[in-house]
Amino acid sequence: MSLVEIKDLKVHYPIRSGFLNRVTDKVKAVDGINLNIEAGETYGLVGESGSGKSTTGKSVVGLEKITSGSIKYKGVDITNVSARRNVNYNQSVQMIFQDSLSSLNPRKRVLDIIAEPLRNFQHLSTEEEKIRVLQLLEIVGLSPESLYKYPHQFSGGQRQRIGIARAVATNPELIIADEPVSALDLSVQAQVLNFMKKIQREFGISYLFISHDLGVVRHMCQNIAIMNKGRLVEVGTREDIYDNPLHIYTKRLLAAIPEVDVSKRQERQQQRKQIEKMYNEQADQYYDEEGLAYPLVQVSPTHFVALPKEQIIDQLK
Ligand SMILES: Nc1ncnc2c1ncn2[C@@H]1O[C@H](COP(=O)(O)OP(=O)(O)OP(=O)(O)O)[C@@H](O)[C@H]1O
Ligand SMILES: [Mg+2]
Repeated sequence: MSLVEIKDLKVHYPIRSGFLNRVTDKVKAVDGINLNIEAGETYGLVGESGSGKSTTGKSVVGLEKITSGSIKYKGVDITNVSARRNVNYNQSVQMIFQDSLSSLNPRKRVLDIIAEPLRNFQHLSTEEEKIRVLQLLEIVGLSPESLYKYPHQFSGGQRQRIGIARAVATNPELIIADEPVSALDLSVQAQVLNFMKKIQREFGISYLFISHDLGVVRHMCQNIAIMNKGRLVEVGTREDIYDNPLHIYTKRLLAAIPEVDVSKRQERQQQRKQIEKMYNEQADQYYDEEGLAYPLVQVSPTHFVALPKEQIIDQLK
């Protein structure tokens, strides 16, 4: 049994229009995805803006009402609120966000921010609570003086550490990390990522790691799902995705990874142009009449791709 099993998850938002404000259409933000997260792993969910990544993450923490499908945590369907309570779900699953300046309350001190989940779930005395928060600050590498400061008094990287301290306060088993480093400078990104790995090792946490950047995901994730317009277009191990990408959308995302090495930039530019040309010529093979991805087909024990069967056989030749 996996820690999390998502089956045929759909989240459709109604679009209302006209002066009667009737529902006239819907946005298929998530349109039938399946994925499993194993205990202790970091699972990557990658796609461009609007592909449905955050909607998926929010559905898993229970912040989004799902249209259909199921989300199981240790075998229990947690789309049902009372079932969620039975497995202590709200304590065991936490979320960290991209923009810590807007996700941390600006009028609250760090002590109160980090203690908030503790106050919701555990009954500690003021003294016990302070000790626990100091412990958490130490875990994330912030000084004890941080206790009485406000979010705006920290750098972006430090604020992200505060968000992480709050997320680990209740000893969660799963953290949904929605673009946790996208707003940070490259050098600070590496620090925060290493630190996320460290607390993963120490506390045995699993991550659902959401990102638009396949460069970042490569350093973090063992298994990766590529999301495009509410559907998954390719799923596999890190090696499947980086060494043998089969879907044009995955290839495009790979070509978009920024090249750090200046001497290789021109080569990457060339590659990007080639992929773009291929995309313009062949995109219709990869999508159905509605412009949506096909169902995933298995091409190896770990690798799945959304292409009609005949074309997969051609691709693999
Ligand atoms: N509450 C909502 N009501 C209507 N449409 C929504 C709502 N939330 C999201 N959407 C739409 O659902 C789609 C998926 O949005 P989502 O935020 O999940 O994408 P994302 O992959 O996280 O994008 P980004 O990388 O920009 O964060 C988008 O088309 C978005 O406009
Ligand atoms: Mg998002």
